[in-house]
Amino acid sequence: MTQDELKQAVARAARDYVAQHLPAGGILGVGTGSTANFFIDELAGIKDRIGGAVASSEATKQRLEGHGIRVLDLNDVTAMSIYVDGADEIDAGFSMIKGGGGALTREKIVAAVAQTFVCICDASKLVDVMGKFPLPVEVIPMARAYVAREIERLGGKPKLREGFVTDNGNVILDVHGLSIADPKGLEARLNQIVGVVTNGLFAQRGADVLLLGTPDGVKTSKR
Ligand code: A5P
Repeated sequence: MTQDELKQAVARAARDYVAQHLPAGGILGVGTGSTANFFIDELAGIKDRIGGAVASSEATKQRLEGHGIRVLDLNDVTAMSIYVDGADEIDAGFSMIKGGGGALTREKIVAAVAQTFVCICDASKLVDVMGKFPLPVEVIPMARAYVAREIERLGGKPKLREGFVTDNGNVILDVHGLSIADPKGLEARLNQIVGVVTNGLFAQRGADVLLLGTPDGVKTSKR
């Protein structure tokens, strides 16, 4: 199976999960990225069950609306039972690195509101220790050089994502060379650096359910 076939299979499993678990007319949070895109396309088939969706990026908003799915402003939503999104890496404790697509801040905000975070990914994303995938950090543009120096002091090698601006008008530093033994600790430490908007570690609020696409089928596990 190709990686895209695994993503497609996991997207179908996520659609079934939503059909089973989202209360009729409930609000669904929707992530960003290639796996999330497969999921959005599948979601079109059950859109009548969904009261509305909250998008974690402008790209996701456009794709949802393209399928005729109503997109709500998060500020108008008081409860969201499920958030579905991909990951760049996930470990056995369901901590994740996210933000390969640059949408980490809005993803983290939407995930914070949701009761259940359902992570959808192919088996290549499951790792023992995170950090091989460069950790994205969203930074206020004027703080870029200062934040980069502070990250170097912590042992990381930050690299500016060239020619990229987030939906929030900020820049991304991709931090290489990390071996993340303490995801919660590093998440908190990075967020303390002035000028950091947020970082792509989702450890304090990790996934609750993992739908993992493998050549032997989609495996479901819960934290
Ligand atoms: C977007 O900012 C990311 O957090 C994505 O959710 C993550 O990078 C997974 O993307 P893919 O499904 O494209 O691998």
